[in-house]
Amino acid sequence: MSALTSAAGAPAGSAGPASANPATPNPATPNPATANPATANPALADLPLRPELVGEVPYGAPQIDVPVLLNVNENPYPPSERVVAEIAAAAAVAARSMNRYPERDATALRGDLAAYLGHGLTADQIWAANGSNEVMLHVLQAFAGPGRTVLSFAPTYSMYPEYARDTHSGWVTFPRRDDFTIDREAAVAAVLAEQPDVVLVTSPNNPTGTAVSLETVAAICAVAPGVVVVDEAYLEFARAGTRSALELLPTHPRLAVSRTMSKAFAFAGGRLGYLAAAPAFVDALRIVRLPYHLSAVTQAVARVALAHAPEMLAAVDELRAARDDVASWLAGRGLAVAESDANFVLFGRFADRQAVWQGLLERGVLIRVVGPEGWLRVSAGTGAEMAAFRQALTEVLDTPAGQRLA
Ligand SMILES: Cc1ncc(COP(=O)(O)O)c(C=O)c1O
Repeated sequence: MSALTSAAGAPAGSAGPASANPATPNPATPNPATANPATANPALADLPLRPELVGEVPYGAPQIDVPVLLNVNENPYPPSERVVAEIAAAAAVAARSMNRYPERDATALRGDLAAYLGHGLTADQIWAANGSNEVMLHVLQAFAGPGRTVLSFAPTYSMYPEYARDTHSGWVTFPRRDDFTIDREAAVAAVLAEQPDVVLVTSPNNPTGTAVSLETVAAICAVAPGVVVVDEAYLEFARAGTRSALELLPTHPRLAVSRTMSKAFAFAGGRLGYLAAAPAFVDALRIVRLPYHLSAVTQAVARVALAHAPEMLAAVDELRAARDDVASWLAGRGLAVAESDANFVLFGRFADRQAVWQGLLERGVLIRVVGPEGWLRVSAGTGAEMAAFRQALTEVLDTPAGQRLA
């Protein structure tokens, strides 16, 4: 019997060294990388972590309890009491059969998502998972991986390189222009040169807010040897005239468009992201998903939220206006402001952006240090939240922390 089998397979209560006392290292399986084998509470450095994860820290914006949260691009408005009551009732129904696994293919939910998106889409063209983060991980698990490459346009969403790392995929970026738009010809040339297996185009982009034209997406699709995913997490906030890449699906079989209920839909806590693509593309994602990945509660409550789509989305116009107002205000203070089609604004550039972030935090306002050096990102919030942000920033700009980059 191998050491692995005996350690893992020893019956409970057997005299085997691994099962007798989990705090005692099994002398049959010494780990040469273990710095301190005798401890029951090893440090991360004592564990045989994959080498490429050594030194890595978990991703995530700081979750700090302050009055004004403008750091992760949430919709600041909670659901109405009516929707809360329906969500609770749907969760109760799901609870009554909690002894059973959920419907594995989430067909009813995918049908609702197809109806919400329109464009003649049907359930078999929709994939859903626990946030579009998980959807994107499925895409890379299915279409990237060892020896394969993912390409995107920097600066862009900071999770993408982590999905690439976690799926053992290569990660390459091609720079955006100074105004954060994508140069179409240069992008096409980059795709032709790199031959990536997956291209990620974020529109509107995070953290810059920049939308990408359909012409650019179509030009990339025309030369991409693999799949192209347009991440439209913020599309509902785009200014009038911005077109969704959903329009391109009928003519581009290897294109997928991902969306989320976390932003405009005011459902970040529900964890529901989704994607529209050809049925075969969806079938590929079904191969790599964990069985029963979407809980019965998630499916049920997401369906309630979708049934109330107009109400859940009711604040979008107001948040667009808040975004435009804060962008003009920031520009009026002489700051650089990236044009945004999302529910946030990237602004700067500060000699010490961390000091500005800290100054705002001390005044009860949490924003995000993200993007190229010198820039900060603020989400669109309620009127009161934006007033608090303006007041706090006005004060910070009058201190040495507010110094601009030369
Ligand atoms: C561009 C982009 N895509 C995807 C996500 C992930 O959203 P979720 O996993 O909440 O659906 C985010 C979240 O901030 C984002 O900014």
